[in-house]
Amino acid sequence: MSQLEDLKKALGALIDPSSGVTLHEQDSLKYVSIDDERRVTVVVTMKSLDDKGKQTLTRAIAKVVKIDFKYHGLKVDVEAMKDPDALRSNEKQPAYIGIASGKGGVGKSTIAANLALALTRLGQKVGLMDADIYGSSIPTLFDMEIVLPKADENEKIIPFVARDIQIISTEFFLTDEKPLMWRGPMLGKMLGHFFDDVAWGPNLDFMIIDLPPGTGDVAMDIQRLIPATEMIIVTTPHPSAAHVAVKAGFMAKELKHHLIGVIENMSYYKHGDTRLTLFGEGGGRQVADRLETDLLAQLALAQPKNGHHSLYDMHEQAGIDFLGIANKLLKSRP
Ligand SMILES: Nc1ncnc2c1ncn2[C@@H]1O[C@H](COP(=O)(O)OP(=O)(O)O)[C@@H](O)[C@H]1O
Ligand SMILES: [Mg+2]
Repeated sequence: MSQLEDLKKALGALIDPSSGVTLHEQDSLKYVSIDDERRVTVVVTMKSLDDKGKQTLTRAIAKVVKIDFKYHGLKVDVEAMKDPDALRSNEKQPAYIGIASGKGGVGKSTIAANLALALTRLGQKVGLMDADIYGSSIPTLFDMEIVLPKADENEKIIPFVARDIQIISTEFFLTDEKPLMWRGPMLGKMLGHFFDDVAWGPNLDFMIIDLPPGTGDVAMDIQRLIPATEMIIVTTPHPSAAHVAVKAGFMAKELKHHLIGVIENMSYYKHGDTRLTLFGEGGGRQVADRLETDLLAQLALAQPKNGHHSLYDMHEQAGIDFLGIANKLLKSRP
C-alpha cells in the first residue's frame, strides 16, 4: 500500500465524536494529501459541528499524522456534513461529463463549451463547470464579465447563465491569487463548493466539466474529487498530443471513470474540396484504440462563420458535428 493509502486507512478508523461512527463508515474523509515536504492536508466532515467535538477530532487526527506517522506538518479543515435530506430532495442527478486532455491548447474548453451548447439546443438542461485552474477560459468563451457570483437566501452560489447554460468557473473566484497556488485543499474546497454549494437549477440533465489538462498532481486531485464521471478525452492528430492523451485516459480509467470516447480536434483544414492535415494524422484513432474506446468525432479547424470567436452556429459543419456528439450522449443515457 502507498503511504497515502496507509494514512487514509488510519484516519478512516478515527471516530466522529458527534456520531460515534468511524470517518470511513460515514464517508467523512473528503480529502487527504501529502506534499513533497511531508506536510499533510486533511479535509473531514462531522455529523454535527461543535467546537468541542471539532477539537477532539482535530487532536485525534494530529496524533495519527504527527506522532504515529511522523509527518512534518498538518493542516486540518473540519466541515459540517451535508444534510442527507437536502441531498435527497434534489431528485435527479445530472450525467457528469468530464472533458480531459493530456495537454493544453488542444481545444478542450472549445469542445466543452460547444458541447454544452449543442446539448442545450437539443432541449437539455445543462450546467458547465470550469475546473481548469491553469487557464480557465469558459467565461471568455461565453463573453462573460468576471465578477463574483451572488448567493441566494440559502447562501448557495448562484451560477451565471449564458445561452441558457448555467456556468460556474474558477475564474469568477480568482482575485489576486495565482492559479498555480491552488493546491490541495484550496482546489478541493473550490471543487467541493462547485458541487455542493452552487444553486444549480433543479433537474439538470448534464453537467459538463472542463478539467485541467495533463496527468500531474492537480489533474489527478481534481479527477479524484469529482463523482462518478464519464470522460471524453480530447487530442489533436499529432503523435505528441496523442501520447499524453493516452496517459490522461489511463489516469481516468484508473480512477474508475467511465470513458465515453475520444474527440480528435483540429483534424484537418478544409480548403475548397481538399482536406489539409496540418497537424499530422491518426492521433485520435490511436488514442481511442489504446484506450479501447470510441473515436466520437474528428473536428476540422474552423473559425465560426457567425462572427463569434469560438461558438459555432448549429447550421455550420462544426455545429452539426457537435449536435452529433450531443445526440450520442443523449442516446447513451438510461
Ligand atoms: N476546431 C478548431 N478550429 C479552430 N480553432 C480552434 C479549434 N479548436 C480550438 N481552437 C482554438 O485553439 C485555441 C485553444 O483552444 P482551447 O479550447 O482553449 O484549448 P484547451 O482548453 O485545450 O487549452 C483557442 O484559441 C481556440 O479558439
Ligand atoms: Mg481550456
